[in-house]
Amino acid sequence: MKLPTIEPEDVPYGDDWFRADVVEAWTEAADRLRPWRSQFRDAIAESVAVLPAGARVVELGSGPGFLAERVLERCASLASYSLLDFSEPMLARSRARVARFAAARFVLADFKSPDWIHQLGESFDCVVSMQAIHELRHKRHVPELYRRLREGVEAPGLILICDHVPLDDSEKSAKLYMTEGEQLDSLSFAGFEDVEIALSIDKLRLYRGRKRLAP
Ligand SMILES: C[S@@+](CC[C@H](N)C(=O)[O-])C[C@H]1O[C@@H](n2cnc3c(N)ncnc32)[C@H](O)[C@@H]1O
Repeated sequence: MKLPTIEPEDVPYGDDWFRADVVEAWTEAADRLRPWRSQFRDAIAESVAVLPAGARVVELGSGPGFLAERVLERCASLASYSLLDFSEPMLARSRARVARFAAARFVLADFKSPDWIHQLGESFDCVVSMQAIHELRHKRHVPELYRRLREGVEAPGLILICDHVPLDDSEKSAKLYMTEGEQLDSLSFAGFEDVEIALSIDKLRLYRGRKRLAP
């Protein structure tokens, strides 16, 4: 797997997700630096838990599998939960964490590429993501990803996106992270309905939207 192309306006990668030592350090620090991440996992799991039995979930940028573990522990009737990440070391960590759940699938793919949905090999009813959408490395790429997600998710479908709002006043932060308004507009513009902020703590937000059945 190669790192996706970075265009001149994009922010270069901060962490080298292909290095095992970087992945280990990130995994160790993530919840220590932001203990409230656990509350976001709870909120996502609560929303997934009300999906009908047999629902198929895909997680973009699943990392070490913290969110997958929380959802799989609480949602025993899922048909599948696909952990999608472009980093072999991250996928290896998540495999060690959640391979015990029969619903877990592991997909090495780049969610910036146009064909990751085909690589999944099955349709999905719900997409979740935590602290990974900004890994598109510029917020201008987000509307296209949301458009593809709206097209790809089966109706009635659910989208749950947790990511940072800008961390500070820097140009880098403004390029990487959408404001609340930008997230809500991008999801609505992509065609999701009932778009709302489901949880807000410090600089993290959880956005929720639905794809309704056509009348
Ligand atoms: C900040 S970590 C978050 C991990 C996990 N979601 C969590 O919150 O614990 C970002 C993750 O996104 C993955 N990632 C970044 N860009 C990606 C891409 N284009 N396609 C697939 N995965 C990507 C990285 O490998 C990493 O696992």
